[in-house]
Amino acid sequence: MESPASHIIVRTPVIESIAELYEARGLGKKSVVLFDENTRKLYGDEIIASMQRQGFRTVELVVPARETSKSVSTAWKLFGQMIEADVDRSWNLLCVGGGVIGDLGGYIAASYYRGIPVVQLPTTLLAMTDSSIGGKVAINHPLGKNLIGYFHMPALVLIDPAFLRTLPSREIFGGMAEVVKYGFIADREFFDMLAKHFDEVARLEEPWISDAVSRSAFTKADVVEKDFRETSGLRATLNFGHTFAHGLEKMAEYRNLRHGEAVTIGMACGLFLSHRMGFLPEEELNEGLALIARFRFPRGLVNKRFISLDRQELFDAMHSDKKKIDKQLRFVLLDRIGHAFLHDREVPKADVLHAIDDTQRWFSEKR
Ligand SMILES: NC(=O)c1ccc[n+]([C@@H]2O[C@H](COP(=O)([O-])OP(=O)(O)OC[C@H]3O[C@@H](n4cnc5c(N)ncnc54)[C@H](O)[C@@H]3O)[C@@H](O)[C@H]2O)c1
Ligand SMILES: [Zn+2]
Repeated sequence: MESPASHIIVRTPVIESIAELYEARGLGKKSVVLFDENTRKLYGDEIIASMQRQGFRTVELVVPARETSKSVSTAWKLFGQMIEADVDRSWNLLCVGGGVIGDLGGYIAASYYRGIPVVQLPTTLLAMTDSSIGGKVAINHPLGKNLIGYFHMPALVLIDPAFLRTLPSREIFGGMAEVVKYGFIADREFFDMLAKHFDEVARLEEPWISDAVSRSAFTKADVVEKDFRETSGLRATLNFGHTFAHGLEKMAEYRNLRHGEAVTIGMACGLFLSHRMGFLPEEELNEGLALIARFRFPRGLVNKRFISLDRQELFDAMHSDKKKIDKQLRFVLLDRIGHAFLHDREVPKADVLHAIDDTQRWFSEKR
C-alpha cells in the first residue's frame, strides 16, 4: 500500500522486496543493520540471509534491548565498529527493532560522516505507528530523555505487521494507545472502525491489524508533512494525552509503567478535560471512554500508578515536562472525536485537577 507518503511501505513479507525498494529510492546495497539482542535473535538470520540473497553487503551491529542503549557511550562504540568495518558515505543504515533501535540508529546515521541515509524496519506496534515515522531521532542525556538528536527523515520505512506476532501482549496494548490516538485526533471513521474491531486488531487479526497499522502510519506522516518543525500546532496534536502521560511516567520513575499505558490513562484525562472545558459533548466523551475501557493493563497497575496518586503531585510532575513553553502547560484537546487542537491559553489549574479526579473515579468505578 502506498500513499502521498510514498517512502512508507506496508507489505508482508517486506524483506523479500528490499532490493527493489532500495533501488526505487536510489539507495545503495551496502547496509549497516542495527538490531537489539531480541530482534537479532528472532529475525537476524532471516533478514541478513534475505538481504545477501538480494545482493547486499551487510555489517551487523547489536545492542542490548533496553532504553539505556540510547546513550552517547553506545553510539560511540558503534561508530568505532563502523569505522573498523570501512563503512563510508556510500553506505546506509537499516534499523530493525522498536523505538529504541529506530531512535539510536537514526541518531547514528544522522551523525556518521555528517549523515548517511537511514531506513526504518520497525518491529513493535509503537515503532510501526509512531516512532519510525517523522524523522525525530535522539539519544538520552542523564538529565532528560531524547534531549540530544536531530530531525533526520528516513529514506524508507518498511512496515511488515507479521513481525508483531512475537511481540508480548503488554507491548501490543502499548502500541494500541498510539493507534487509538490517531482516531481521536484526526479520523472519526478510523475511530469507528476501532470501536467495532478493537479486539481483532489487538489479536493481530487480518485485515484489521494491517489496516490499523497503515492508517496510523499514514496519519502520522501526513501530520508531520504539514508541520515538520512543530510550528503551527498541528504536529503538537500528536501529543494528545501525553501531558498527563509524561507526569505519570515521571511519577513512576520511568519504570513499571509503559509509555503506552501512561498514554491510555492520559487520553482518558484528556477526554474529561476537553469535556469539562466545554469543547467535547458528553456523548462523545462516553464514546471515547468506552474505547479506552477495552485496554487491558497488568493487575493492580492502574490502581498503583494512577488511582492512588495525589492529584496535586501529578499536576506538579506534569509541570516538569520539557515540552512546555514559557513554563506554561499546553494541552491538546478534542472538540469532537476525530479532531484535536492545541489550546492556546493556559488551562485553569482547577480544571486540570478536576479532570484528573474525574478520570480516577471513572477508572475505579469501571473495575
Ligand atoms: N522518534 C520518535 O518520534 C519517537 C516516538 C515515540 C517513542 N519514541 C521512543 O521509542 C522508544 C520506545 O519504543 P518501543 O516501545 O518500540 O520500545 P523498544 O524498542 O524498547 O521495544 C520494546 C521491546 O520489544 C522487543 N521487541 C521488538 N520487536 C519485537 C518483536 N517483533 N517481537 C518480540 N519482541 C520485540 C524489544 O527488544 C524490546 O525489548 C522510546 O525510547 C521512545 O523515546 C520515539
Ligand atoms: Zn507516545
